[in-house]
Amino acid sequence: MGATDGLKLFDRPILAIESSCDETSAAVVVGRRILSNVVASQIAMHQKWGGVVPEAAARAHVEAMLPTLVEALEQAGIQRRDLGAIAVTNRPGLVGALSVGVSTAKAMSVALGVPLIGIHHLEGHMMSVLGTEEEIPFPHTCLIVSGGHTELVEVAEPGHARIVGMTIDDAAGEAFDKGARLLGLGYPGGLSIQNAAKGGNPKRYPLPKGLSGDTIDFSFSGLKTAVLRLVEKEGDAIHVADAAASLQETIVAVLTERAIRAVVRLGSDTLTLVGGVAANLALRERLGASCHREGVRLITPPISLCTDNAAMIGLAASVRLARGETSGIDLEAQPNADLPA
Ligand code: KG4
Ligand code: ZN
Repeated sequence: MGATDGLKLFDRPILAIESSCDETSAAVVVGRRILSNVVASQIAMHQKWGGVVPEAAARAHVEAMLPTLVEALEQAGIQRRDLGAIAVTNRPGLVGALSVGVSTAKAMSVALGVPLIGIHHLEGHMMSVLGTEEEIPFPHTCLIVSGGHTELVEVAEPGHARIVGMTIDDAAGEAFDKGARLLGLGYPGGLSIQNAAKGGNPKRYPLPKGLSGDTIDFSFSGLKTAVLRLVEKEGDAIHVADAAASLQETIVAVLTERAIRAVVRLGSDTLTLVGGVAANLALRERLGASCHREGVRLITPPISLCTDNAAMIGLAASVRLARGETSGIDLEAQPNADLPA
């Protein structure tokens, strides 16, 4: 058992880099303090195609990387010579996109003669809660909901996690993104569904919750098929606000139900909610109310730390560097990788 009260953190400024998908981000972090967190989004570019095009993403990272990094140092008021380490997301993600961040981080590490550390993207999401003022107990339960992942995890201590529940097909973010595309709403789908759902009737179109019974796993592929059938059946008569509200309601209800079940099963007193979908206001509200009823503390970072950003990578690195962990200059970008056990 432990808590962040006694947690050892790296005491020099860390420059952190994130480029695993469609955001180029650089941040400066000292201990738990975020001095800057700059995100250059590629969303406008990918909107044209309705999703992320890997080759285009990699090239956009090349263009945005150095200006973003310079901006992060400037906003933090930190000189390159003050940096104590370079942290970078090296897994999992789009390999071309990751490689841009990893190469940049290696070059910085060699040029400045400071340690390099590669961080798992989901460990970054899990440690994003260190960016709050809250005292974080270990172990705790964490719901990670992003574009590629939907997992319920027991976080034994920073950097050590065990998956207890997961999606057997699509991620929650994918369900938002695919649903939005079918309803003719913009990319990324989560925010456009959230906006379109305002004032909509969430009970108008009942949709399937996937997997029945006493489970803490998820299945969202049936939901996507159901939205497709709905769009085909209703045609132009479809009420988009009601459909968006129904879709959001279904995803929020499933995530809340399974997260509470996991907390009870694990006997946790704290749940953390992280990842891009944690930016969803309906989910934050519903899970907050359910946790309150169950006497469970819900910790969720501000929205800027939920969607992809480099500060969360710096926070995860702060813990590992304080333990003396570093990566070699042979650090590789890995498209697939399990959570650090
Ligand atoms: O963590 P993230 O930024 O990137 C990945 O690691 O995948 O998550 C991106 C996902 C996308 O599917 C996006 O639609 C979703 O997060 N998202 C949202 C909201 N903002 C972003 N989903 C629901 N409501 C939101 N407000
Ligand atoms: Zn992410």
